[in-house]
Amino acid sequence: MPEKTLGWKVCRKDGEKMRRALVEMGYFDRNRKISSDESHVYLPVLGMNEAAEAELRAIVDFEPVMIDFSPEKRAPGPEDILGYRPSFEVVGDIALVEDGDEERVAAALMFTCKSIKTVLAPISDVEGEYRTRRFRHVAGEVRTTTIHKEHGLRYLVDLEGAYFTPRLGTERLRIAGLVKPGDVVLDMFAGVGPFSLLLAKMGASVIAIDKNPVAVRCLRENARLNKISHIEILEGDSAQIAGRYKSRADHVIMNLPHTASSFLLPAIQAARTGGVVHYYCIASEDDLYKDEALIEKAAQEIGAGWESLYKGIVRSYAPRRHNVVIDFRVKKSII
Ligand SMILES: C[S@@+](CC[C@H](N)C(=O)[O-])C[C@H]1O[C@@H](n2cnc3c(N)ncnc32)[C@H](O)[C@@H]1O
Repeated sequence: MPEKTLGWKVCRKDGEKMRRALVEMGYFDRNRKISSDESHVYLPVLGMNEAAEAELRAIVDFEPVMIDFSPEKRAPGPEDILGYRPSFEVVGDIALVEDGDEERVAAALMFTCKSIKTVLAPISDVEGEYRTRRFRHVAGEVRTTTIHKEHGLRYLVDLEGAYFTPRLGTERLRIAGLVKPGDVVLDMFAGVGPFSLLLAKMGASVIAIDKNPVAVRCLRENARLNKISHIEILEGDSAQIAGRYKSRADHVIMNLPHTASSFLLPAIQAARTGGVVHYYCIASEDDLYKDEALIEKAAQEIGAGWESLYKGIVRSYAPRRHNVVIDFRVKKSII
């Protein structure tokens, strides 16, 4: 007797977007096959908490349904050895494991996923001005560098030396959908370049800034790896460097969620009339878009107007706290 399990009914046009987001967040049920009819796709999902569900609903709306999914034939995974699905994230050929029993999870991962060459366990939060983390080596090759592929580009990532997360992949695609070839993009906190290089590849004229020398070294190498030469890469403090680009940018990306509010003045100044600022911050569930007051204050301070274009949850950050984005248009020319 086939067993009905949980699936999400999603409009056909949004099916791939939701599938990717579910895979990225580890909630896609690989044991069952996707099914579809003329208007919808039915994606098999694993159980998740309310915050993860809200985050996914912010990307694409869905209806939960119970379905007889056909089983997917697949090679054994770590869950078949461990008896439960371990929580881990993959960057390139490195698995990052945050589980009480890291040695056992690492052994199961190395045995079942041939593409994993190294297993690391974080021993600190993402911390400091450069937003980096420290790791303990658990298994495999002893290194923290890898090549990660995203949206057809290759990135050299040094997990201990510079910030990178694959969990923003869907958000980067959303921004890519808003930028036109020829647009000037100022990426104020570029890291190893996942926003900058994707947009440059699409024909935008990108200025990428980061203060962390390791991130900048990776970013330069990533431009070379992907044969992208029409990008300006600058090492230093965006608070100062952005000032050189007054009223120049069609898009300003502010991906420094904990302290972006301190950089609102140079960001708004850098946007041309009609330019769009993509502002990321961390906010509590009770007041997700509280930073709109800070945007208003900064805009007023330099005599600019602003108009909210889009706001949404990018991903959950901690219980009842989310990483949110506010896209806003700068309405006055700044001299
Ligand atoms: C959260 S990371 C985002 C990196 C990249 N946008 C991404 O999506 O992977 C923030 C980055 O801002 C950089 N940063 C922090 N303060 C800065 C400043 N004042 N000026 C320029 N970059 C800064 C950090 O080194 C880090 O690489």
